[in-house]
Amino acid sequence: MTPTNSATPTMKPSQPSIPDIKPRTPVVSFDREQFDSVNRVFAVEQVAPIVGMSPAFVRRVTGQADLLSPREVLMLLDQDAFRETYIPRSRILAFLQDDATRRTEQVVVVPNPETWDVRLGNALDLAAAIPMSSVQCVVTSTPYWGMRVYEDMQSVVWADGDVCPYGHEQTPEGFVRHTVEMLVAVSRVLTDDGSIWWNVMDTFMTRTQIRGNAAEALRAMQGKDAKRWHDHASRRYSAGHAFLKDGEQCLIPQMIAERASRAGLYVKTVITWAKRSSMPEPQNSRVSRNLEYVLHLAKQRAPKFFREPYLDTPAEFGGRNNGWETEKLSDVWTLNTSVGGKGHGAQFPVALPGRCIALTTEPGDFVLDPFVGSGTSGIAALHHQCRFIGIELSGEYVDISRRRLAALAASGADVARSAPALFDVEGSAS
Ligand SMILES: C[S@@+](CC[C@H](N)C(=O)[O-])C[C@H]1O[C@@H](n2cnc3c(N)ncnc32)[C@H](O)[C@@H]1O
Repeated sequence: MTPTNSATPTMKPSQPSIPDIKPRTPVVSFDREQFDSVNRVFAVEQVAPIVGMSPAFVRRVTGQADLLSPREVLMLLDQDAFRETYIPRSRILAFLQDDATRRTEQVVVVPNPETWDVRLGNALDLAAAIPMSSVQCVVTSTPYWGMRVYEDMQSVVWADGDVCPYGHEQTPEGFVRHTVEMLVAVSRVLTDDGSIWWNVMDTFMTRTQIRGNAAEALRAMQGKDAKRWHDHASRRYSAGHAFLKDGEQCLIPQMIAERASRAGLYVKTVITWAKRSSMPEPQNSRVSRNLEYVLHLAKQRAPKFFREPYLDTPAEFGGRNNGWETEKLSDVWTLNTSVGGKGHGAQFPVALPGRCIALTTEPGDFVLDPFVGSGTSGIAALHHQCRFIGIELSGEYVDISRRRLAALAASGADVARSAPALFDVEGSAS
């Protein structure tokens, strides 16, 4: 395997500084007259995920048409049932016209590695280069909205017209749109009976500095942050949103789940990851937060799914967390948080991707993590004898994940039988 770096056409060069987040909802309205001047038709399957309706409902509204005129698209946008997915209403016509040519300059095709491969680049571009229907399981933890500054952050050119690093959108809605655009891109490479497991946390609409990792944030809470407001690389403000008020919870995971469904995916379960430890929060007007979410999404009602590994896999690779979880595999997962220490500020524990992979793959299947960070999901995939593709925008994190995976692969181990001594799991000495 020779990992190669790839040019990514929808990325802007690195920015010298990361823009602050000012969640002022832009005032933009919908121009109906633009539909009068267009002479093209659009396939129902192309339009349905953009207007957030099933193809069957689109046909019901438009009278069974397979190809839709701009007037029929307008009729859909006027339905009570319309709700945005990843393109705002004012830009839908322009998007539909551009869609055919978008990202066609892609030159790299990610080959099927024998065991693993980690690629440097933007997840949107590289996901478009993976063969269709080749990945059995996507498992990832994305950047959360307005929470972290990562190494080598770069702006992405998004289909809704935004240009910003993922996670640094000006509004939660912008982040939700970009997330759904990512989900649509990765669902293209998913097999029909595959699963997507999407770990995401919510954000409170507050004024805050955006930091590099949880330890930095903790030091700040303890009053040990020597940096002043203006010394921080990126800051988030809270005023100016169309409806969210200062201090309110944004409900981002729920918005993503609903829009993923509108874009055509099945929302199988919204899982609560109850964390065994979490950051103290000096709040006197609300309870502390102790959870994250894992969205289990699929392309069909019954994806490949195995319950048994929950009971016979070691807890550190995703099996039942004895003492905390019962024999029933439920939608509340009580898992440790990562102890970190792998050069990345936002790792998840191996057990989390481990459980997702164990439940929805068989040995030899492909697992994809489009935001691979330090490579944790790759460690879990190799443990479960799957092949693995990771994508990551930061060269530093690519190096870290390649080193971790190469060390594991070089051990030549039957990874299912060797385990904690080889793997970077919590509590192991490695
Ligand atoms: C939450 S972290 C993932 C951590 C990982 N699960 C681990 O255990 O190390 C999200 C990662 O997404 C990367 N990232 C951000 N935008 C990206 C993009 N457009 N394409 C690919 N990776 C991106 C960040 O550099 C960061 O490493």
